[in-house]
Amino acid sequence: MKVLLTGGAGFIGSHTCVELINAGHTPVIADNFDNSCPEVINRIEEITGVRPKLYEIDVCDGEKVREMFKAESFDAVIHFAGLKAVGESCALPLRYYRNNIDSTLTLLEVMAEFGVANFVFSSSATVYGVPKEVPLVEGMPTGCTNPYGWTKLMNEQILTDASSADDNLSVVLLRYFNPIGAHESGRIGEDPNGIPNNLMPYITQVAAGKLEQLGVFGDDYPTRDGTGVRDYIHVVDLAKAHVKAIDYAAERKGVEIFNIGTGTGYSVLDIVNTFMRVNNLTIPYAIKPRRAGDVAECYADATKAREILGWQAEKTLDDMCRDSWNWQSNNKNGYK
Ligand code: UD1
Repeated sequence: MKVLLTGGAGFIGSHTCVELINAGHTPVIADNFDNSCPEVINRIEEITGVRPKLYEIDVCDGEKVREMFKAESFDAVIHFAGLKAVGESCALPLRYYRNNIDSTLTLLEVMAEFGVANFVFSSSATVYGVPKEVPLVEGMPTGCTNPYGWTKLMNEQILTDASSADDNLSVVLLRYFNPIGAHESGRIGEDPNGIPNNLMPYITQVAAGKLEQLGVFGDDYPTRDGTGVRDYIHVVDLAKAHVKAIDYAAERKGVEIFNIGTGTGYSVLDIVNTFMRVNNLTIPYAIKPRRAGDVAECYADATKAREILGWQAEKTLDDMCRDSWNWQSNNKNGYK
């Protein structure tokens, strides 16, 4: 299939691009490089031997998107592009709503014009808000704690309504848990702007000597060691879920939601300790107050994806920690 990847130069998009090529598909990337780097395209070519076609556009720009759809005959769209920093979304909510909602609306309008019927959306476990119980099952209540999360949930609603109104449209909503790791080649990986907000890139930058010490946000949660528990998933496993999702979308109509996680929760200290053991490094850390908006535990029931999508995570936490460090240690300044 010829597949449009919006945000295809980003962390998850680039890994998905590689897996799509490996599976014999033809990905086309649309990216405005707002939070990614053109160098990614060279790296994808290095890994796969195939240089994906690139449109350097903003997918909120209807005219540019139309021109691209005119030039390509897409079979499916995977929509990764979007702003994703939780704190920034609280400071700049309108920017988040404008960007993250407009892009989806524009894509849906242009897809309808050109008869493109398959849509896979990057949603997030953040749509479960503060979970009342874990593991999280797809039918459980949703609700968000910040504008970034609301843009994910609103997009899920928009896509659900669009698919109810259009018998041709097929939508797969993938709720990602916490993606970490990197391609085993160490040539593509996560390259956050500035000081990382997320745990693994913070750890790798401490390991690289770019940051002094990890702050562990809270050790008084009702969890086994008091630190927050999350469902970390290797980005290559996550990328492979998208390959399954486009096949699934192409065979059916309507909308389906899948949790994309491993089903296992690990604490912050599990991650730190595994990272140190696997890579034979020391990560200095100190316990800090809880971070506002964090929940104690968030991990998936991943049964539905296994049974219906035929996908399950294969990589271990050791793989995730090793591959994250392999990427960081070989690319001290990311793609720059
Ligand atoms: C965060 C976002 C979530 C988003 C996801 C993308 C928040 C509240 N949630 O999830 O909406 O979909 O990233 O990957 O920002 N931690 C530390 N020290 C650090 C960084 C993190 O102890 O320097 C802890 C956190 O308290 C948490 C765990 O590590 O318990 C994971 O944090 P993080 O990687 O930021 O992911 P989430 O907060 O789960």
